[in-house]
Amino acid sequence: VTVLAVVSEIFPLVKTGGLADVAGALPSALVPEGVEVVTLTPGYPAVMKAVNHAETVVESEQIFGGEARVLRADAAGLDLFVLDAPHLFNRPGGPYAGPDGQDWPDNPFRFAALSRAGAQLALGFAPGFAPDVVHTHDWQAGLTAAYLHYDGRPRPGTVATIHNLAFQGQYPAELLGALGLPHEAFAIEGVEYYGMIGFLKAALALSDRITTVSPTYAAEIRTPDFGMGLDGLLRARGMAVTGILNGVDEDIWDPSIDPLIAEPFDVRTLARRPANKALLQRKFGLDVDPGALLFGVVSRLSWQKGQDLLLANLGVLERIGAQLVVLGSGDPDLEQQLLAAAAKQPHRIGALIGYDEATAHQIQAGADALLIPSRFEPCGLTQLCALRYGALPIVARVGGLADTIIDANEMALAAGLGTGLQFSPVTAEMLGATLERASRLWGEPEIWDELIENGMMTDVSWRRPAAAYAKLYRDLIRHRRAGHK
Ligand code: ADP
Ligand code: GLC
Repeated sequence: VTVLAVVSEIFPLVKTGGLADVAGALPSALVPEGVEVVTLTPGYPAVMKAVNHAETVVESEQIFGGEARVLRADAAGLDLFVLDAPHLFNRPGGPYAGPDGQDWPDNPFRFAALSRAGAQLALGFAPGFAPDVVHTHDWQAGLTAAYLHYDGRPRPGTVATIHNLAFQGQYPAELLGALGLPHEAFAIEGVEYYGMIGFLKAALALSDRITTVSPTYAAEIRTPDFGMGLDGLLRARGMAVTGILNGVDEDIWDPSIDPLIAEPFDVRTLARRPANKALLQRKFGLDVDPGALLFGVVSRLSWQKGQDLLLANLGVLERIGAQLVVLGSGDPDLEQQLLAAAAKQPHRIGALIGYDEATAHQIQAGADALLIPSRFEPCGLTQLCALRYGALPIVARVGGLADTIIDANEMALAAGLGTGLQFSPVTAEMLGATLERASRLWGEPEIWDELIENGMMTDVSWRRPAAAYAKLYRDLIRHRRAGHK
């Protein structure tokens, strides 16, 4: 089986969140399943700098006001198609926004170009490459299904994965012609979405299969509370919508060989772990106290992630004598409030605003517990890393957090099964109560250690998810051969 993946970020080249982790890890996890993935990604400066053995496979043409071509290349062990379109991608800043944090105004054209190249590769424009399935990720690749649909030529099967329904790519209807879409595409069964053009909407309406990154999120997004206006469409797609959990890359997230942490350890050598805690306390300027319960946060700072609920609980943290280290960036308001909290109590609270891979690993290795109070969470990867690194995940019971953490309630404890703490409803009060619950558990080291060991022995690898994707691809191919949709 040959798959063309279309995605706007990929680890380790370009990353703003878990999407990049998934795009970077899934291809190699699929190799043992007999699935070969080539990934199309934009030629951002970081990608162009990393490519090796680049070969032009789709010749240069004019698209959206400049020249674009597709290269086949490898970079960082990834098999890539790169959309080399300097007028769209050769600029400083992030993949979606400029250095000032503002979205690039031509984003509809940048990601339409990505999707259009995806459709061309799907249709065999690159000599010798004929994918069985095109797998698009999130809104940025969403128009791929539309270009294929309105092109009308025989096409491969299409799978669209939703990593986050909060980002939908909605643009004015007037752009339809400029984006190269026909008049008829502006319809309920096409790209139209509340009077606008919806990139993600198009993918959900026109792809053969839809997946999202956990079974619980797959159920949640069929409801008005989580569906963000697309729940009706998702309900209508019925069995075409499924949930497949993410895994974590076991080579990158392995505490026994992690070069980014000071004192490697595994489940048999847990006695080495506290050295990492002490270093973390020192790095953030906290009291170096092995007995203090140290909470960690590694996160984008946004409404989704619920850090405001944590900020509402600074009093609880103080009362239970806990410490907190936060690594994150995003919402300037939340950044300021976290810095202010740290400034007020420098010996107990530390905040590092920014994006830093090494600190992320050090928090996983050194914090006693990782806090993830998300209001919604399609899958979440940091709780999976926490399981592997022996930090107790304390999570909101939503989406993939509900699916991957076993709450240490009485029944789970009796059965020896708990791996973390869950709370619901997702409110500041309930988070506060759960921080207190964690503090009580901290006072029972035998139970705490058992939870940590359970977590470290949980399989959070890509093996099972990869098998599920391989089955999905094969079922889809078989179905289409049999003449069904
Ligand atoms: P999302 O994709 O919604 O941000 P995930 O939990 O799926 O959430 O993935 C987040 C990824 O980004 C993880 O790999 C996490 O370690 C990483 N990450 C988040 N914030 C930071 C940060 N400030 N510095 C370094 N890594 C971060
Ligand atoms: C999104 C979601 C996150 C998920 C990630 C990778 O960014 O917010 O929950 O883990 O995509 O699928």
